[in-house]
Amino acid sequence: MKDSHGRTIDYLRISLTDRCNFRCVYCMPEDGVCQMGHDEILRIEEIERLVRVAAGIGIKSVRLTGGEPLVRKGVVGLVETLTSIPGIENVSMTTNGVLLPRMIDDLKAAGLSRVNISLDTLDAEQFRAITRVGNLDDTLAGIDAALEAGLNPVKVNAVTVRSLNQDFLEFAKLSIDRPLHVRFIEYMPLGDTSEDSGTGWGKADVIPSEELCALINEQARAAGLPELRPAGASKPLGWGPARYFEFPGAQGTVGFISPLSRHFCAECNRLRVTADGKVRPCLFSDTEYDVRTALREGDDEAVHGVLLEALGAKPDEHHDKVGTDRKMSQIGG
Ligand code: 5AD
Ligand code: SF4
Repeated sequence: MKDSHGRTIDYLRISLTDRCNFRCVYCMPEDGVCQMGHDEILRIEEIERLVRVAAGIGIKSVRLTGGEPLVRKGVVGLVETLTSIPGIENVSMTTNGVLLPRMIDDLKAAGLSRVNISLDTLDAEQFRAITRVGNLDDTLAGIDAALEAGLNPVKVNAVTVRSLNQDFLEFAKLSIDRPLHVRFIEYMPLGDTSEDSGTGWGKADVIPSEELCALINEQARAAGLPELRPAGASKPLGWGPARYFEFPGAQGTVGFISPLSRHFCAECNRLRVTADGKVRPCLFSDTEYDVRTALREGDDEAVHGVLLEALGAKPDEHHDKVGTDRKMSQIGG
């Protein structure tokens, strides 16, 4: 189905919960936001019905996000049901990886196509500082598990924040020996961006992708490594809005996602559903469409209507908006 700007919308991102076993500084307050009540969250059957109706308006891909989707009870069964819905071609997930070693075999058997694992640093102390409570080894084990299970592609998403001083070359090198697709994402102004929010976003913290790519190449040269070149055939499936590079001979790729310095709104193909059942036409839009009420009180026609309304309200672009009512953990990465 096309939106009012002529874009084909075939991708639905659904947040399964606003809860998470981490508390990443840019995503959540320390005490874990005022969490949504049990009744506010869409039930598993409601999500299944929503996706059935969404397939009817041309949705082909579904991504399950959070918070952390794997802390949601019933997630494996949900994947299994969603993959069996006619019209749904792939079901993927964005996760911090902690629960993957335990769950990957079941998820794969249920038909999960691929995973994106969120990881911002390879330094254990910095990892703890960013996630407040997480252990680097747990997420690394999650990456190993995804590769061992043969999921393809396995992508690792890193948010880049200037004041964190992450070691980007070390990170990019993850793509050399294993088929890992590393993607650097510009830090976006989501949630309360005021300075006193404690998790404030500042323009100075954004590292434009072009600058980052040049920096990685500079560091590579200094380390006697070859530079990144545009990726050829090894570009991962479901490439989305990233631009991909690779080190010569590497098994994986290094991608740059530039929502700010080179926004990809013209190619936007998605709708998002929050854990409490609000459809967001855009990550940056605070106008939401209540599909939960339609799911609880209406027939499929009503659900269909809300999806179409949200689709029709997709803005042409985000117009460099700064700040949103909700943070990523509530919107769904
Ligand atoms: N900017 C960019 N990425 C973000 N994420 C969370 N908040 C932001 C932000 N402000 C990322 C997480 C994870 C995904 C769900 O979204 O790190 O990779
Ligand atoms: Fe959890 Fe991801 Fe948010 Fe970190 S960024 S707190 S891992 S949802």
